[in-house]
Amino acid sequence: MNISETVKVSKDILILGIESSCDETAASVVRNGREVLSNIISSQIDIHTLYGGVVPEIASRKHMERIDQVVMKAIADAGVTMEDIDAIAVTYGPGLVGALLVGVSYAKSYAWALDKPLVGVHHIEGHICANYIENPDLKPPFMCLVVSGGHTHLVRVKDYGDYEILGRTRDDAAGEAFDKVARVIGLGYPGGPKIDKVSYEGDPAAIDFPRAKIADNEYDFSFSGLKSAVLNYLNSLSMKGENYDQADVAASFQQAVVDVLTGHSMAAIKEYGTDSFAIAGGVASNSHLREAMKKACDELGVKFYMPSPIFCTDNAAMIAVAGYHEYMAGNTADWNLNAVPALKLGER
Ligand code: KG4
Ligand code: ZN
Repeated sequence: MNISETVKVSKDILILGIESSCDETAASVVRNGREVLSNIISSQIDIHTLYGGVVPEIASRKHMERIDQVVMKAIADAGVTMEDIDAIAVTYGPGLVGALLVGVSYAKSYAWALDKPLVGVHHIEGHICANYIENPDLKPPFMCLVVSGGHTHLVRVKDYGDYEILGRTRDDAAGEAFDKVARVIGLGYPGGPKIDKVSYEGDPAAIDFPRAKIADNEYDFSFSGLKSAVLNYLNSLSMKGENYDQADVAASFQQAVVDVLTGHSMAAIKEYGTDSFAIAGGVASNSHLREAMKKACDELGVKFYMPSPIFCTDNAAMIAVAGYHEYMAGNTADWNLNAVPALKLGER
């Protein structure tokens, strides 16, 4: 196969996306980079909940068991055949190495056996590209906040595949902070959706938790101090023999996160100027964050985009969309494509 073969733009392009970077085994078929024909997600959340978080080896083993069924169902649900697929796009980083290797190996075998081009996709690029699915008018340039269990990135999307990172977390990712705080206040795993829900019963102004500022880059984030502040608050009450109000702690913690994410985003919009702003990643499902971001963008006259929750969480449709743009740009991978657990955005 000639991996730099010219892409014929006159026909529909079908991309099979495969995602296995963490605890979701997912496959999807997407037409022309926008139209999702199938979107299969097999979540392992029930298994990892027993351990209070993702256990990497269990994740890899579950991917191994499920990946073939998930891909076959994605092909069947799309109403296409394996031969109809133009290219196979797979997440090759960042993520858990054992988990990534399952998807990468499967995608390589599939591409080799059927003589199809292989495309390696960056997981965060996938999250950003999730915004193209339901918003046909969205095109670069725009700005995007990616907030997930592993990442917190404020990114300028200059063009398809061309990203400038303005800020990133110095310690915990936003989703990680949600999960850790949820655990200490007895909500369990996964924490984000539980804090989102219980916060409706609490007062977001009850406790004044810190909003961290980073001296040498105003767009960087830090959530470990906030997490410690929650722990200190709980400890100080327990030393006095007093109980805490779970909903108030959840709502006040969440408000601190939402304020920082919104504040940094709006400051970047003002400095760099953009007419469109998008959010992405698992934490972008947070209803309070969605509302606050929409309001703040409306105030600045900036168009706001957010994927439906099913495209915020890890999925393969977003990988197929990102893969489509890489494929059209001629960025196919060769047979030595490997998993890169700490892959940086914009690196190949
Ligand atoms: O993007 P994602 O599915 O996986 C990663 O790439 O990390 O993100 C998972 C993260 C978890 O930390 C989860 O608690 C968080 O997203 N999350 C939420 C909500 N739904 C999921 N955080 C806050 N509010 C939510 N509604
Ligand atoms: Zn993700």
